[in-house]
Amino acid sequence: MNIVRIDREAIRRNYQAIKARVGGETQVMAVIKADGYGHGMVEMATILQAAGVSNFGVATVEQGIVLRRAGIKGSLVILLGGSAEEIPAMHSHSLEPVIFDGDQFAQFSEVATHLPGKLAVHLKVDCGMGRLGFKPEEAFAWSEKIKAAPGLELIGIMSHFPSADVDLELTRCQNEVFGRCVQAVRASNAKVKAHIANSAATLQGRDFHWDLVRPGLALYGCYPSSDPQWQRTPLVPAMTVASTIVQVEDAPVDKGISYGHLDTTRRPSRLAVLPMGYADGFLRSLSGGVGQVLIRGQRAPVMGRVCMNVTVVDVTDIPGACRGDEVIIMGRQGNDQISADEIAAWMGTISYEVLCLLGNMQRQYVN
Ligand SMILES: Cc1ncc(COP(=O)(O)O)c(C=O)c1O
Repeated sequence: MNIVRIDREAIRRNYQAIKARVGGETQVMAVIKADGYGHGMVEMATILQAAGVSNFGVATVEQGIVLRRAGIKGSLVILLGGSAEEIPAMHSHSLEPVIFDGDQFAQFSEVATHLPGKLAVHLKVDCGMGRLGFKPEEAFAWSEKIKAAPGLELIGIMSHFPSADVDLELTRCQNEVFGRCVQAVRASNAKVKAHIANSAATLQGRDFHWDLVRPGLALYGCYPSSDPQWQRTPLVPAMTVASTIVQVEDAPVDKGISYGHLDTTRRPSRLAVLPMGYADGFLRSLSGGVGQVLIRGQRAPVMGRVCMNVTVVDVTDIPGACRGDEVIIMGRQGNDQISADEIAAWMGTISYEVLCLLGNMQRQYVN
């Protein structure tokens, strides 16, 4: 009844658009954590690997193992680093953890010493995100400690931008700080790869690209914000979320709708019931006309409270709407489109969260 349709061709086109933006020398690390931002992690890795991607970023060791078992080759970076207990598994699956903390380094170097060969790692510096990472002025010292650890091999230096979508000046300053770290670390680790750019910085410009860019959102066809400047890079949303009308009924004036009768009909109405609710990611904050859906190419506003698995919408102005009609929750129908950004604005959140919430249903892959 509810389905998440993922357009593989859109993913391939978005990757090509990003590739064209960064040019031949820079590689792309596809960020496919959070189940590929709701698009399916293994499926995304498989499509992108076939399209030429050989670097992937995931959050956890468990995700990395799932990808290896699914036949994903190349570099798999564990952005959250993993735990010391997971080092043997990282080793045997050739996963590349990020090292961002002194205690973590001590544990990792101790465990890795007892394993054959070396565990490839990336050093994370906090150039202004205020989250994970070593202080920039300590980057060189930590890179030397990693270099001296018999079980570890430093292959990357990385950071993460907090505001590349909204504050170019700040992003430039942070990029300069990163540049100084890269220079210092490369003085004795010449081959270390540098990477810092998320989608916004990737689309923004070459100064931020370094050796590798790490887009997530853009691969799935969403822009960092609604500012038209981003549209120089053509992206296609890959996710459509559809439901089906399960009942249409006439309602007289003053009929209370759904839990708590948040809404009552103000006119003789026709109301359609959808088998979709907050448990499916169609959040309760969309209640009372905040959210809309597309039916027969027209917008139908939500009536009353969104329930766990049920939502009522007003189809009075949509002639012919009937049981079995397809309902577009997110995506295009006729000449209209509901984007992840529009839903995010209704929910008071960002498109990332909308993709993760709505993408978590049965998926169908097309193209
Ligand atoms: C470390 C890191 N790099 C890259 C990304 C990709 O960011 P975006 O989806 O904005 O491109 C993320 C996402 O949160 C991240 O945590």
